[in-house]
Amino acid sequence: MATDRQFGFNLVDPAHYAKHGYPHDTWTKLRAEDPVYRWTETEGMPFWAITKHADVTEISKQPDIFLNGPRLTISHLAEEPRMDAFPDTLIQMDNPKHRAFRKMISSRFTPRALKKIHGPIEQIGKEIVDALIVDKEEGEVDFVEAVSAPLPIAVIGWLLGVPKSDWPLLFDWTNKIIGASDPDFQQQGKDVMESAQSTMIELFTYFSKLVEEKRKKPDDNLVSLFTQLEFEGKPLDPMDVLAWCLIIVVAGNETTRNATSGGMLAFVENPGEIRKLQSDPSLLSASVEEAVRWTSPIIHFARTPTRDYELRGKTIKKDESVALFYGSANRDEEVWEDPFTFRIDRGKNPHLGFGIGEHFCVGSHLARLEMAVAYKHLLPRIEEIELAGPVERLQSALVGGVKKLPIRYKLRPA
Ligand code: HEM
Repeated sequence: MATDRQFGFNLVDPAHYAKHGYPHDTWTKLRAEDPVYRWTETEGMPFWAITKHADVTEISKQPDIFLNGPRLTISHLAEEPRMDAFPDTLIQMDNPKHRAFRKMISSRFTPRALKKIHGPIEQIGKEIVDALIVDKEEGEVDFVEAVSAPLPIAVIGWLLGVPKSDWPLLFDWTNKIIGASDPDFQQQGKDVMESAQSTMIELFTYFSKLVEEKRKKPDDNLVSLFTQLEFEGKPLDPMDVLAWCLIIVVAGNETTRNATSGGMLAFVENPGEIRKLQSDPSLLSASVEEAVRWTSPIIHFARTPTRDYELRGKTIKKDESVALFYGSANRDEEVWEDPFTFRIDRGKNPHLGFGIGEHFCVGSHLARLEMAVAYKHLLPRIEEIELAGPVERLQSALVGGVKKLPIRYKLRPA
C-alpha cells in the first residue's frame, strides 16, 4: 500500500503549489496506482484524494450523498479555518436550498442572456487588449497585470453595478480572500483566517451601502437583482444578499484571471498553437476549452458523504472528507490520448475545469466569453512571443494562480 511520503508533495499545502506548480507527477501516479487514496500525511485533516475523471464525475453527480457542507476545501492546518460568522454562499449550500438559490440567478448567465451583453463585454475586453498593443510593434509586459487581471474585474464590476472608480477594490478583495494563504496578500500581522475575515468585512461593508443605493434606485445590474430576490415567499435575508455579492466577486475573478493567464502561458510555450489559431480563427472557442482544461484553475473542492460509499473497492466512510482534484481529472489518460499536450484542435474536450453536476459553474459561459475576447483580439497579432522572466505562482491549494507572467512580444501589423 502506498504511503504519502513517497509522493513528496502535500496535495493541500498552499506553499507547495507556489513553489512547484501543479503536482502532475503525483497525480499521475495516483491515477495509475491508487486513484481513491486515503491521504493521511498532513497536519490538517486526513482526506480521500480523488484523481480520476470518472470518479470526480460520479461524486459530483450525487449531491445528496456528497455534500458541499460543512467544508468546501481541505485545509493543511491543524486548526481548520472556519468562517461560521459569515453566511453560506451558493457553492457552500446543499439541497433543497442550493437548487432554490441557484434558480434565482442562473437565467442571467445562460448563453442566451449573455448574447444580450456580448457587445459591451467585447468592448471592455478590446479596450484592455488595445491598451497593450495599439501603436506598438513590440513590448514587454506582465500579462496578468495588463490583461488577465483587469478583464474579469471590469466585467464583474460592470455586471454588478460597481462604479468604475471602485473596481480596484474588487481586485484587492479577491486577491486577499482567494490568496489568504499567500504572504503577498495576507494583511500585516494577521493569519490566514484573520486576513480573510477582515477582508470579507470590508467587502460586506462596501456592498451594504451599494445594496441600499440600488434598493432606492434599481437598475439592470446584478446587485439590484439581488435586492429583489425572494426565498420561500419572503424577501431574501440581507446577509444572503451580501453573500450573493461575495460569491460573484470571488468566483468570477481569480478563476477567469488564471485560466486566461495559464492559457497564455501555454500558448507562449507552444507557439505552433498560436499559428494554428491564426490560420483557423474558428478554433477560438476550442482554444478556450483547452486553456481551461490545461490550467484547471480550481485545484480542488471538497465533499462530505452522508453515508458510507464504495468506490473502486475502497469504503469512504460517512463524514470522511473527499477532495476532488480537477487538475488531475483533466489529465486523465483514459479520457484524452495525449493529456499532457496543449492542443487547441481537440474535437471533444469533456474537461472538468468548470466542475460537473449540481454545482457546475454558473459563470462558465461568461468566463468563456471573456477568455475568447482576450485571445481573439491579441493572438492574431502575435508575431513572436516569449517569457521575459520567471512566472510567479500564488500560494494556494484552492486556485492555481499565476501572480506574474512577464512576456516579451513582437506584433504583426494590424
Ligand atoms: C475560467 C473561469 C472559471 C472556472 C475555472 C470556474 C470553476 C468553477 C468550478 C470548478 C466550480 C464548482 C463546480 C462543481 O462543484 O461541480 C464553480 C462554481 C461556481 N462558479 Fe465558476 N469558474 C469560473 C468562472 C466563473 C465566473 C466568471 C463566475 C461568475 C459569475 C463564476 C461563478 C460560479 C458560481 C456562482 C459557482 C457556484 C455554483 C453552484 O454552487 O451551484 N465562475 N466554478
